[in-house]
This record gives sequence, C-alpha cells and structure tokens, in this order.
Amino acid sequence: INIEVPDDQARFEAAQRIKIGIYFATWWALNVVFNIYNKKVLNAFPYPWLTSTLSLACGSFMMLISWATRIAHAPKTDLDFWKTLFPVAVAHTIGHVAATVSMSKVAVSFTHIIKSGEPAFSVLVSRFLLGETFPMPVYLSLVPIIGGCALAAVTELNFNITGFMGAMISNLAFVFRNIFSKKGMKGKSVSGMNYYACLSMMSLLILTPFAFAVEGPQMWAAGWQNALAQIGPNFVWWVAAQSIFYHLYNQVSYMSLDQISPLTFSIGNTMKRISVIVSSIIIFHTPVQPINALGAAIAILGTFLYSQAKM
Ligand code: 3PG
Repeated sequence: INIEVPDDQARFEAAQRIKIGIYFATWWALNVVFNIYNKKVLNAFPYPWLTSTLSLACGSFMMLISWATRIAHAPKTDLDFWKTLFPVAVAHTIGHVAATVSMSKVAVSFTHIIKSGEPAFSVLVSRFLLGETFPMPVYLSLVPIIGGCALAAVTELNFNITGFMGAMISNLAFVFRNIFSKKGMKGKSVSGMNYYACLSMMSLLILTPFAFAVEGPQMWAAGWQNALAQIGPNFVWWVAAQSIFYHLYNQVSYMSLDQISPLTFSIGNTMKRISVIVSSIIIFHTPVQPINALGAAIAILGTFLYSQAKM
C-alpha cells in the first residue's frame, strides 16, 4: 500500500515562511503609520528631541505595564546583560534622534532615500573598522547605492543640510547598533521583544538629559500651545500615535530579527523604505522631479544588487 507520509520538513518551512511574511507585512504597515504621524507631529511641533524621547518613553511604559500585568514575561537579566546593552543603546539613541531631526527638516521620502544607503555604510564600517573583506560584486553594488543616493540628494527640491546629515548619521549609528545587538542577542535567553524593551528603557535614560539640554521645557511649552491652537485637541492623538507605532514597529522588527538572518532583515528593511517613500509622497503631496525619482530607484536597485551579491 502506498501511504503518503507528510513531509514534515516542507510543512515546517512553509509555516515558517508564512510567519515571517506576517512579521514583515506587520512591520512595514506599522512603520508607514509611524512615519506619517511622526511627520504630521513634526510639521506642527518641530521639536524632534522631545518627540524621539516620547517614543522611547511610551514604549518603555507599555512594556513595564505588560510585564507588571504578566501579558509578557519580564526577562531575567544580570549586570552583564545591561553592560553589553549599553553600546547598543547609545547607537540606537543616536540613530533614532538623528533620523527624527532629519525628518523635521526634510520630506520623509528624502530621509528614507538616504537611509536606503545603509548597506553601503555597513560594508564600509565592516571593511575599514573590522577589517572584514567582501567579494568584488559586493563592492560594485555600492556604486549604484552611493550614486543613486547622491543623485537623489543633489536633485532634491527641498534639500537641507541638517536633514541630509541627520539621515547619514542615523545610517552610521544603526550599522553599529546592528553589529553590537547581534553580539548582544547571541546565546542570550532574552527574546527579541524583551531585548527591544530593555533597549528602549536604556535609550530613554540616555536621551532624556540631552533632550532637556538641546530643547527644554520652555520651547516645548510654547510649541505645544502653538500646535494645539493650530491643530486642535487631535494633536494629542497624533503624538500618542507616533509614539505607540514607533514602539510597535521596532518591537515587531526585533521579533523578526530573532527568526531570520541579518541579511534577510536588511532586505526587509529596504522593502519597508519603498512603502514609506511611496506612501509619504502620496499623503504629503511631496514634489518629486523625474531625475530625483530616478536617483531613489537606482539607490534601491543597488540595495537589491547588494543583497544578491552578499548571498
Ligand atoms: C527613527 O526614528 O528611529 C527612525 O525613523 C528609524 O528609522 P528606521 O527604523 O526606518 O531605520
């Protein structure tokens, strides 16, 4: 008799693919919503140091509540864990605040076009600081990434140097964050979700004094009154939405980092940027010249070539 034995391995792989697909779709959707509310808030209330602090505070608060109510299990951590987390948190804080400062000065799409150049930073840091070498096609794929970003930058109608530098600093900081967090998560019993929760809390502690020093309560109070007068009570909901969605998209991205390789993660991250670029151009009616769009398309194509070359 011919009994058909279910192929467990194939089933497992199919289930895994569906799971990762769901993670990716959720991550991108949450990120699009975050980017839209973040920009709406920054347009009315241009204080990126405070809004970045609020995002981290909201995430930390949500996780503390989840642990206290046992919706999520609190991780068991020791001093060593927090010590290893420190450099990750410094890099996360710098990358986060720099991206938010960038988005307060330029269109969301422009920040994300420059941020699609992150693989180039990753290769350069690995090559020059860690002494890692890559096959030739990897280096060649940097040409369209860097060239495309440069073309998009010089043809950007609303170019602003702080906006550009913020996105570049964010790229550099996040490369370090990814290198350190890969080391920090390896062999640890802390899940991706709890790892990101601890990261938010430590980043919040690091960022808060700087936010007071750079902006401070006087600016915030005046700006807040102004934003409320301009937008009305809904403004409070916009701030809540940008803070909650910031935490959720990062939490989901760390949960998927638990399941996939850093390379698959970076491909997912680039695809995420395409959805953010397209949706923000539509929602904010961002003016784009054909040559500008060509630069963005070349940069993104370069990122795909990079991922192929790395495979
Ligand atoms: C931030 O505020 O941290 C940035 O928007 C993050 O950008 P990314 O997660 O898309 O790299």
